[in-house]
Amino acid sequence: MGRLDGRVAVITGGARGQGAEEGRLFAQEGATVVLTDVLDEQGEQTAAELGVEYQHLDVTSETEWEAVVADVLARHGRLDVLVNNAAIWFGSKIISTDTAAYQKLIDVNQKGVFLGMRAVAPAMSAAKGGAIVNISSVAGMIGAPTQVAYSASKFAVRGMTKIAAKELGRYNVRVNSIHPGFIDTDMLAELPAFQRGDDKRMLRSVPLGRVGEARDIANLALFLASDESGYCTGQEFVCDGGMLP
Ligand SMILES: NC(=O)c1ccc[n+]([C@@H]2O[C@H](COP(=O)([O-])OP(=O)(O)OC[C@H]3O[C@@H](n4cnc5c(N)ncnc54)[C@H](O)[C@@H]3O)[C@@H](O)[C@H]2O)c1
Repeated sequence: MGRLDGRVAVITGGARGQGAEEGRLFAQEGATVVLTDVLDEQGEQTAAELGVEYQHLDVTSETEWEAVVADVLARHGRLDVLVNNAAIWFGSKIISTDTAAYQKLIDVNQKGVFLGMRAVAPAMSAAKGGAIVNISSVAGMIGAPTQVAYSASKFAVRGMTKIAAKELGRYNVRVNSIHPGFIDTDMLAELPAFQRGDDKRMLRSVPLGRVGEARDIANLALFLASDESGYCTGQEFVCDGGMLP
């Protein structure tokens, strides 16, 4: 018996990285999985490999959210799990951060999560059940220098998670956030320290002494999506190899 048997799950940013791994694991555990992304070619390819569905969804678009949720409900009759995973990253000091770049990141990482929660809340509330898993970051727990936009967006995700949990708890809809540390994906490869080959120095801050795998986060997302976490809501789950104090 799978841990998500009979459940329908939508995962944003699922073409690659952690989102794809969550799709793989959720499908193995019996869920009907709908991966979404803006990288359509890669998304279609990943979905075909995993035997799941793929749909285009730019998380910054209200109309695209409405269309995807309506389509999933029309075809499957339910929507039990949403993983708000899509995000972008860039690093720069406050003094040199471009306003347009700041706003673009906030639109994807912060507004995207808000739109996602708002889009699925009516169906989950009506069904008297659902689980929303918002992917934040350790940068949403501590101020991360040179990451003013990213850290702000991830603090916002952590805050919105708690608000949604309080608003939706009476409908048995649970909302939690995950805070990954260094995870081996394309996003990590964008970090200057990794590009410089300084990863050994960075890993000194990780007691477990290794970079995390996408599977480490997918396992936690599975727990939060499943009934096993049935009494957890509004909480932050750190998965960082022990990096945070
Ligand atoms: N990799 C890390 O070290 C790390 C650490 C902390 C938190 N995170 C978080 O984990 C999550 C997953 O990231 P990842 O590591 O798999 O990186 P990734 O870059 O491989 O995946 C992010 C995905 O989001 C998609 N995306 C970007 N903009 C989008 C948009 N407007 N609409 C829809 N999809 C969009 C990308 O196309 C990509 O497929 C993100 O929320 C990220 O902030 C990652």
